[in-house]
Amino acid sequence: MTTPQDIRIVVAIDFGTTFSGFAYSHINNQGSFEGISLKNQWPGRKKNSVIVQYKANTLLQYDNELNLMNWGCGVVAEKGNFKGKEAPEKESMVAKLFKLYLANLNDPPPLPEGLDYRQAIIEYLTKLKELIIESCDKRWPGLRFPEQFRIVFSVPAEYGLIQRYVMRLCAHNAGLLEKEDSANLEFTTESEAAALWCLKHADQYELREGDSYLVADCGGGTTDLAIFSITNKDKLDEMTERSGAAYGGSYVDQRFVKELENRVGKNVIKYLCQKYFSRYLHLMDYFCHHIKFGFTGIEEDFEDIEMDIDVVCPMIKKFVEKEKEAKLVEDEWIITFDFNDIKQMFDPSINQVIKLIDEQIYKSKDERSIKYIFLVGGFSESPYLQKVVRDYFELAGQQKVVIPSEPLTAVLRGAAYYGLNMGVLKMRVLKRTYGLRVTRVWDELKDSKIYKNDDGTVYGFDKLVTRGEKIPVDHKVTREYIAPKSKYSGITFRVFMSKLEDPEYIYQKEVIAVGNVSIVIPEEDLVPDRKIEFSLTFGSFEIKATAKKHNKTYEAFFVLDT
Ligand SMILES: Nc1ncnc2c1ncn2[C@@H]1O[C@H](COP(=O)(O)OP(=O)(O)OP(=O)(O)O)[C@@H](O)[C@H]1O
Ligand SMILES: [Mg+2]
Repeated sequence: MTTPQDIRIVVAIDFGTTFSGFAYSHINNQGSFEGISLKNQWPGRKKNSVIVQYKANTLLQYDNELNLMNWGCGVVAEKGNFKGKEAPEKESMVAKLFKLYLANLNDPPPLPEGLDYRQAIIEYLTKLKELIIESCDKRWPGLRFPEQFRIVFSVPAEYGLIQRYVMRLCAHNAGLLEKEDSANLEFTTESEAAALWCLKHADQYELREGDSYLVADCGGGTTDLAIFSITNKDKLDEMTERSGAAYGGSYVDQRFVKELENRVGKNVIKYLCQKYFSRYLHLMDYFCHHIKFGFTGIEEDFEDIEMDIDVVCPMIKKFVEKEKEAKLVEDEWIITFDFNDIKQMFDPSINQVIKLIDEQIYKSKDERSIKYIFLVGGFSESPYLQKVVRDYFELAGQQKVVIPSEPLTAVLRGAAYYGLNMGVLKMRVLKRTYGLRVTRVWDELKDSKIYKNDDGTVYGFDKLVTRGEKIPVDHKVTREYIAPKSKYSGITFRVFMSKLEDPEYIYQKEVIAVGNVSIVIPEEDLVPDRKIEFSLTFGSFEIKATAKKHNKTYEAFFVLDT
């Protein structure tokens, strides 16, 4: 069995909606480390490219039989001449934005037929794993993978136990973990990781013990927020219940596609994306570099955009809708976007980011103690987003808005830093109330009839921890239980969770079953009484179970309902 002392490499994986990367570092046997390296050479990228790219595209390309043909930057590598003759592309299907399937969206973007999103995640992580092994083996040959590697995943704040469990299973299937319940896997959230990176640079800002700051990771698919406070000896406490939502830079791209389809015809771009993905990518690349990245939201700075279809994407001409064609011919295939066309592509996402930040600050109850708003993530590089956040929060005179020097990699670097200094985060705020099922006698004066069982009992919710509670990351709740007589040498508890602070019954609408804790304890050990002590640890993003009797520890498993 590997112990924490055997860990020699920490690898942080930022599996993003649009871009993913990893960072790695070596720890010696005294537990110290020198620096954090970021992967910046990706298969499929031109060897002589001068631009450093810390993340690869979260893309997978399959043939018609769903065999993986290409991944990451390899899918984007320029193929052929887009201005001239349109040579037919090799039939292929591209899976993109598949991380969004974990976000419980009503309408996630379609995947190639027959491809399950978990399979896509496993294949992507497998490719990252190959690069992780290659990169680390070059630097520190001879280390055992995965036994001596700690893997840290930074995940969105809104992920619950189930989504983190899916990520664990995918990591195991991708070969990143030796076994499914490996202790070498750790989770942090995107905002928490970024907050740790900001803490490491606290000396660049006026941040001292007792100060708080808000971190918003504005990515491609989600915006993740939380407020942290600096405690003694440069440690962090989470101060508010973290939040996040599916608002990010990729929704601006989707609104551009919609606007373009208003001009050239419904489903034209969708068809282009399905059949001629490299042309689609070329078009989106044009949008990002000529329109999206430079948009300031100031009308005087803006000149109408004239997009020449013959230059940017001549393939569109082939599929254009008949009713739209006459106007396009009259305009010589030039599509003009004015200021308001572009602004409306950004506004819904930006307004939501403002709302999320506002709500977080309101939750903190003492907004004066929040000195800074740190904006990280790719979308935070948008001058328009920066301007709106500044206008809204700085003019109110409360917080200063800071875009740190490496906003795109702050999550990656922070997650690695967390894996190297696990003690740096002291307290987290619980997003759910957790409890166990207890059976008690139905009480006529207290209990509603609807919860009464046929045998005159009710299933109550025995609360262990409360939503909104600030708890240490290794917070253990211990209970004593009497094991029922059974022919099996074990006992099982049902665990439930709720958004409510004080749920009373497990059949309440807002209460949901999470899973089972099973304790394996032989009958002959249940003497002189049947009392056992069992504990659940909260605060580390996964629930861990332990059981004890007479100072002897027994195996305890927490298995999620999936
Ligand atoms: N200068 C810029 N202006 C506007 N948007 C930008 C700029 N630079 C990058 N972006 C956008 O940022 C997004 C990518 O950011 P990032 O890499 O942080 O996302 P991600 O990690 O893939 O997503 P998530 O964290 O939501 O899963 C893309 O939508 C990209 O177009
Ligand atoms: Mg991200």
